[in-house]
Amino acid sequence: MKTIDSVQSEKRLFPPSERFVSQSLLDAEGLRALREEASADPDGFWLKQSQLLHWQTPPTEGLDQSQHPFVTWFKDGELNLTESCLDRHLSTARRNKAALIWEGEPGDQRVLTYFELHREVCRAAAALLRLGIKTGDRVVIYMPMIPELVIAVLACARIGATHSVIFGGFSSEAIRDRISDAGATAVLTADGGYRRGKVVPLKHNVDEALKHCPEVRHVIVVSRTGQDISMHPGRDHFWADLVRAEHGLCDAVAVPSEHPLFILYTSGTTGKPKGVVHSTGGYATHVAFTTKYVFDLRDEDTYFCTADVGWITGHSYIVYGPLIHGATVVMYEGAPDAPHKGRFWEIIDKWGVTIFYTAPTAIRAFMRWGDSHPRSHRLSSLRLLGTVGEPINPAAWLWYHEHIGHGRCPIVDTWWQTETGGIMVSPLPGATVTKPGSCTQPLPGIAVETVHKDGSRCGRSEGGYLVVTRPWPGQLRTVWGDPERYRKTYFGDIQIDGRPVYFTGDGARFDEDGYLWVMGRVDDVLNVAGHRIGTAEVESALVGHPHVAEAAVVGRPDDLKGQAIVAFVTLRSGHSQTPETASLLKEHVVHDIGAIARPDEIRFTEALPKTRSGKIMRRLLREIATTGKAVGDVTTLEDMAVLQRLSSANSDEE
Ligand code: WTA
Repeated sequence: MKTIDSVQSEKRLFPPSERFVSQSLLDAEGLRALREEASADPDGFWLKQSQLLHWQTPPTEGLDQSQHPFVTWFKDGELNLTESCLDRHLSTARRNKAALIWEGEPGDQRVLTYFELHREVCRAAAALLRLGIKTGDRVVIYMPMIPELVIAVLACARIGATHSVIFGGFSSEAIRDRISDAGATAVLTADGGYRRGKVVPLKHNVDEALKHCPEVRHVIVVSRTGQDISMHPGRDHFWADLVRAEHGLCDAVAVPSEHPLFILYTSGTTGKPKGVVHSTGGYATHVAFTTKYVFDLRDEDTYFCTADVGWITGHSYIVYGPLIHGATVVMYEGAPDAPHKGRFWEIIDKWGVTIFYTAPTAIRAFMRWGDSHPRSHRLSSLRLLGTVGEPINPAAWLWYHEHIGHGRCPIVDTWWQTETGGIMVSPLPGATVTKPGSCTQPLPGIAVETVHKDGSRCGRSEGGYLVVTRPWPGQLRTVWGDPERYRKTYFGDIQIDGRPVYFTGDGARFDEDGYLWVMGRVDDVLNVAGHRIGTAEVESALVGHPHVAEAAVVGRPDDLKGQAIVAFVTLRSGHSQTPETASLLKEHVVHDIGAIARPDEIRFTEALPKTRSGKIMRRLLREIATTGKAVGDVTTLEDMAVLQRLSSANSDEE
């Protein structure tokens, strides 16, 4: 595993300004003390952090790993998380503070105070109860980025129903698979959503999915676009009709700390979606702790995270983390370039945003669009910037620092995963000297190491497997309905001293100063525009087309999206390798999975390189897609002649 050259040569250091340090929650000395406290007694440390939440029965126990890798945190505690996010703010000065400042893509806006958000959540929760939805049921949420999405998530948590949010860009097939896997009995959706001026037919997609999901008894529909939709009598209800009947009071159901708050589906290496299960108390403790210290969050802040609530970043750092702290959250419905390429900067200017959290892929797009867009808006309210989702290349880091932060704002490059629930490795903005491209150091209470395949520790600057050696509160608890898959996927690869440890799937190295540099996934999962997409999912979509015999999908580095998707496709006989076929297949993938998985390039080939046991050698394909030839080890290749033919494969890329 070689490191990336441009990253290695990056030596510049960026300490936080004195001004920032003097006002921040934690300076270098404070961080040292926190680290010492956490390493001396991790259990006591996290128990103390659990007090950031409101508990109906406060926990007395921290970690229980007697059934490792099935662990629990705070298992004798009971809480309802919405009391931490909403109720407790109502008796403070935050009562009529803006909780949510929302901007629609077409330019409409809504502001909900804590008082109003609490009332809306209670009404929605009461409506769910009235329909017979109860604690422990699974509820799928498939909505655009509108306030009702946040309300829906919190309404589920209010009654102890486990929510599963499906990203609004997914197709009906993806919805169907997730509903079936989760065994969901209700779906909360909208008629449609806006995306770059177009309307996404959400309700229609749900209708298609539900043809195969008889277990779903209720569909609740928010009117967003007002387009024509069909309503299935008895099953479908309009959100407005249901909540109108409710008065705004609904008891918060106390659940045990380990109660599954949500399931979030993520890509695995097989085609079957993987339902990552998060707990309530442990997850929320981790998210509360990281939101407070990583974002140095204060009551005066206006916080804008550009993620979608359909991804983990939106769950943890749009909904739960900021609301636990009574922050003001800016939420934007649409695309960053709708209707113009300065939309984010306009929003920052308009609302005086102080903290801005986005993805490297977005930053690379901003760079390509040019400096004039941020320059024509006032960004002087910003004091802190963040990134998440993939390694940020130093050039993008420096552009962000200069053109958005005006050299004044620390940047927190936060490394974490759907499975970790919250941030694991990140600078603490008033305490850490940053290096562009490095996510710096593990947070206090988090034990991250780089090891060889045999579990021995890597030396400084040596690339290896990134593992977490001690359970942490935000750790996923299992894979929904498949505990064995959980054990195999995360604890099946690497052992340290004979004990399985959590393998992140990432390659990384610590440099001489103990700073972490993440090198990306070691397996085949694609990371397109910050989103993980399993090769197998795209491949099974392609192979599902009647013209296709076989397909293998790899990522090729792409300046803009992180990775571009290259699909090597073998056609069934009688079908021709034409550009028309290539576009047909691309559209087919979009239909099956969603636009995010559209192959950038289709290469037709007569055969794929395979090992003797029949496994496709994606590594060779990656090399061919990137450099035009296979340069690595080919000794396990079954048929050498395949390589020759592949290098001259017929591509649709101009
Ligand atoms: C990658 C997103 C480098 C990494 C929260 C990880 C990163 C995967 C960073 C998880 C970062 C995320 N630097 N790489 N700051 N943040 N990654 O599940 O490969 O969508 O394993 O969670 O994204 O992606 P996921």
